[in-house]
Amino acid sequence: MSKHAGVLREMGLAPIWKIRKIRKIQKMRADAPQASQEGTSDRASAIAAMNWDELRSSVAECRACELCQARKQTVFGVGDLSPDWLFVGEGPGAEEDERGEPFVGQAGKLLDAMLAAIDLKRGKQVYIANAVKCRPPGNRTPAPAETAACWPYLQRQIALLRPRLIVALGKPAAQTLLGREVKVGEARGQIFQHNGIPLIVTYHPAYLLRTLQDKAKAWEDLCFARSTLAAGLQSR
Ligand code: URA
Ligand code: SF4
Repeated sequence: MSKHAGVLREMGLAPIWKIRKIRKIQKMRADAPQASQEGTSDRASAIAAMNWDELRSSVAECRACELCQARKQTVFGVGDLSPDWLFVGEGPGAEEDERGEPFVGQAGKLLDAMLAAIDLKRGKQVYIANAVKCRPPGNRTPAPAETAACWPYLQRQIALLRPRLIVALGKPAAQTLLGREVKVGEARGQIFQHNGIPLIVTYHPAYLLRTLQDKAKAWEDLCFARSTLAAGLQSR
């Protein structure tokens, strides 16, 4: 079995994965302004001026929302500091909280397999971050106030990393990045933007672990993301 076929099998996609023709690309701008960009607070302005090391330290010490209370440590992000791809998840789970690195548990294994399926690897052309840097207790979905409090950090990470493409993994990531309500099923297959960077929405790997039949759609989304990135590179 080739490496590629092995990876597809690992993702549970071997029999069905046939790259479908990418459907018509509907260019869409996120029309609503980013909620948390309005009335930028002093804290947000300070964060927006930080360099990478300052940002890391600020996150490590942050107590701006309730999630600081139960965390073992903050989970800043990991990867290539000049990446083509930025993957954004929801927030750390138990293992991430323990180890300080995003996507190192079960969902992370699937994310690594998804990356490998499109010839990517953690740390190589790829940066991985989360909408919130501290683990929500019991792995609950982060509250809107928490994603809003953490948003300036992700915003600054994006500004410093300047990825060529952003992939939002699941609803909380998509809503944080786009600043509005998002239904993943409806947002898939569209190109959104964050500060001129194309942004694509797909399912969260933890959801895919529970909903195996949607893995094929995630594969479609990754192929769509890859072709969007390639098209962007061509037009430069
Ligand atoms: N789920 C996420 O959204 N992020 C992680 O880092 C791990 C699991
Ligand atoms: Fe700060 Fe973000 Fe952690 Fe909240 S989740 S305490 S805003 S680092």
